[in-house]
Amino acid sequence: MPAASTPLPLLDHRLLVVSGKGGAGKTTLTATLALWAARGGRRVMVVEMGPKTQVPNLLNPGHAEVGYEGAEILPGLHVMRADPFAALAEYLEIRIGMRPVVERLLEFEGFRQLMQAAPGWRELITLGKVWHLEQMREAGAPRYDLLLVDAPATGHGVRFLDVPRVVASALRSGPLRANSLRVEALIADPARTLLLPVALAEELPVRETVELVERARDGLSIHVDRLVLNAVEPAPFPTERNDLDERLASLPGDLQVQGLPPMATLSACARHLRRRHELNQHYATKLSHATGLPTIQLPYLAGGVRGPESLEKLLEPLAEVAE
Ligand SMILES: Nc1ncnc2c1ncn2[C@@H]1O[C@H](COP(=O)(O)OP(=O)(O)OP(=O)(O)O)[C@@H](O)[C@H]1O
Ligand SMILES: [Mg+2]
Repeated sequence: MPAASTPLPLLDHRLLVVSGKGGAGKTTLTATLALWAARGGRRVMVVEMGPKTQVPNLLNPGHAEVGYEGAEILPGLHVMRADPFAALAEYLEIRIGMRPVVERLLEFEGFRQLMQAAPGWRELITLGKVWHLEQMREAGAPRYDLLLVDAPATGHGVRFLDVPRVVASALRSGPLRANSLRVEALIADPARTLLLPVALAEELPVRETVELVERARDGLSIHVDRLVLNAVEPAPFPTERNDLDERLASLPGDLQVQGLPPMATLSACARHLRRRHELNQHYATKLSHATGLPTIQLPYLAGGVRGPESLEKLLEPLAEVAE
């Protein structure tokens, strides 16, 4: 097991749990990491926890939705949706056999309602499936080198990692306790598992990420040693022209160069870009100081994230700093 001060290269983990606030870029980051890992020859499984899969269409535009059974959407790159009821059916079938009985039970509305209300089982069963994927072997080697979990938005996202520990500590014996202990051992192993928080470099997301890291350190056993800041405004001007906005502002506002808007408009745009960049850097520094962790910055893509070409643009800075 490596010392805490020498972080494992990102892709050398067996399980990366990408977590963050709604809209922070979890799915985008997960898809980019998956692409990077698969290109390097790793066998990857992306586990999406939302109601619908997004990664297949992002990486392979036009690819159909993927269910619990999963699909290989690019060579070596698999995606599945962690549907808790499908995972429960699989679990019950392994434990008690009799698939028709299990299916009847799961179709029974009263049972579904009961299960909807019961706390914790979804998380436990989903993480159990992740554990199972991690354990799978083919010809003596792991079936998947890397599992990427696109976790639910923060709050719920961290709690779900805590469920195995809570269940294991509440039970004295039995298969459920044994399962929970196995899952907990995977989550708590820094040589295999890393929590990778992703945030926007803005006030509220940064505050929430500091809380997430504190929670991971205090209450959870999952390792966290770096953070991702997504959609960071890149430095707007080349270094030798880094006062461009001020230069533009010093020119007469009504000056107009042929084919361009008035100088006042150009200078306002330039100032806006610089402020946005500086604000993002301010929060990046704040986050680093508050957590003591390094940050990986991914650039803001003005055209949005539209498909593989966009992910390419994120992959480059990620691969440069994230080794
Ligand atoms: N670096 C970026 N530059 C520009 N747009 C981005 C960037 N990263 C993500 N986006 C866009 O921001 C939106 C949210 O990204 P994404 O879906 O990856 O976030 P999420 O954390 O998975 O959201 P949710 O909590 O809803 O699952 C998407 O429209 C995505 O295209
Ligand atoms: Mg998402």
